[in-house]
This record gives sequence, structure tokens and C-alpha cells, in this order.
Amino acid sequence: MKIGIIGTGNIGGNLTRRLTKLGHDVHIANSRGPETLSDLAAETGAKPGYAADVAQGADVVIVTIPQKNIPLLPAGVLDGASSHAAIIDTGNYYPQQRDGLIGPIEAGLPESRWVEQHLGRPVIKVFNGIYSQHILDRGLPAGSPGRIALPVAGDDQAAKAVVMQLVEELGFDAVDAGGLDESWRQQPGTPSYGADAGRDDLRRKLEEASPERPANFRA
Ligand SMILES: NC(=O)c1ccc[n+]([C@@H]2O[C@H](COP(=O)([O-])OP(=O)(O)OC[C@H]3O[C@@H](n4cnc5c(N)ncnc54)[C@H](OP(=O)(O)O)[C@@H]3O)[C@@H](O)[C@H]2O)c1
Repeated sequence: MKIGIIGTGNIGGNLTRRLTKLGHDVHIANSRGPETLSDLAAETGAKPGYAADVAQGADVVIVTIPQKNIPLLPAGVLDGASSHAAIIDTGNYYPQQRDGLIGPIEAGLPESRWVEQHLGRPVIKVFNGIYSQHILDRGLPAGSPGRIALPVAGDDQAAKAVVMQLVEELGFDAVDAGGLDESWRQQPGTPSYGADAGRDDLRRKLEEASPERPANFRA
């Protein structure tokens, strides 16, 4: 698949490493420009560009930048993506450490709904609750003991199916976590967040989640 990745930090960098290894045609962008991506390009074979370029004709676009920077993306950044493209949001709202106050999220809007409103395209929420290093080194073949399961939430069923397949290819069990209105169940501070749970345990943890934001994840 042609995969565009916007953001090449901890998560975007490791997804670039894994997805190129799996044979995908990966195009990458950061905030400083393609010339600053030559090391990652040389290491992985991914093709550097600007954010709007990497989305051109992509089947999947992964947006993996700090939440507070989402509104800084150029308007129409995803316009060039295929109409059927799956848009992945890996983000988390860290008001105290990084993002400052985002009113609608504090008022209860799921974090990915807020991202979706800014991007103007439906998003699939995944990879937000796994430590970036584990994307690189904890993937296992299907059926292996200790295989980590990842929740995948979103409203576009076809896009969600593509993303769940990609999660499996990367070596993780993909668990359908419902529509985006349910995606608070996998946000920071919930039982599944960072838990590296297996499939059954993950389902239990999603069920046990409370919509109340914990104090340490409020502005
Ligand atoms: N770190 C983790 O283990 C982890 C795990 C799960 C989810 N997450 C979430 O995933 C998101 C990304 O996290 P991260 O740790 O990978 O972040 P990071 O290491 O800080 O990297 C952020 C990347 O976003 C790029 N960026 C920032 N603003 C941009 C813009 N306007 N246009 C294009 N690129 C832009 C940065 O570009 P430059 O390099 O040019 O500055 C950088 O490549 C966050 O929401 C985070 O909460 C992180």
C-alpha cells in the first residue's frame, strides 16, 4: 500500500521502520522539511516530502504529531489522499505536559473527534496507547503467547478493516473498539492505556473504562 506518515518522531519513526520492512511504499513528512529526513530515508527507504505531498494518492495516511500541533497543519493537507483512504490518528491529549488547554476535549469531546474536525476527514484511532519502542520490537506472529492487542476505533467500517489488517501485519491483535464516540475508552488514563494487554484482557479493560477524565489528564 502507499502509506503517508505525517510526523516522524517516536511513533512515526518506528512505524516508518516497520512498514517499510513489510514492503509498503512509505512517504514521510515532519514540520521542518524533507531535507531534515535524509537519515530516516537512508535507513528505511521511505520517501521524504511535505505533509500535503505525502498524502497524495495514499491508501493510508498516519497523522502522528503532538495534539496541540494539529491545527497548525496546512488547510486541506489530506485533500490529495484517495477518497477511500484510511486516516489514522495516533494522538493523545496531554494538557499538563505538552498541549495546554483544549476546551472541547476538556468538555468531553473524544480526542479523535476533535482531530477529525480539524482534518476534515473521518479518522481511525489506533496506536495511541502503545509505547513507541514496542511498535518496533514487540510485534509477534498471530497466535503467539503474549501478543499485544491494540484497540481500533472509528466510524468508517471499510477504513477500519484496512487499519485492522495493517495492525495484524505489524504483529498485534486488532480489536474493534467501536465507533469514534466510544474512543474515550482508549484515551490516556483509562485501564487499557499503555497496558500491553492481550485480546481478552483488552476487551475487559475497554469495558471497565470510565468517561470521566482523570485529574492528571485535565488542564
Ligand atoms: N511516544 C510514544 O510512545 C507515544 C505512544 C502513543 C501515542 N503517542 C502520541 O502520538 C503523537 C506523536 O507522538 P510522538 O511521541 O511520536 O511525538 P514526537 O516524537 O514529539 O514527534 C512529533 C513529530 O511530529 C512532527 N510535527 C509536529 N508538528 C508538525 C506539523 N505541523 N506538520 C508536520 N509534522 C509535524 C515533528 O516534526 P519535527 O521533527 O520536524 O519537529 C515530529 O516529527 C502524540 O500525540 C503522542 O501523544 C506517543
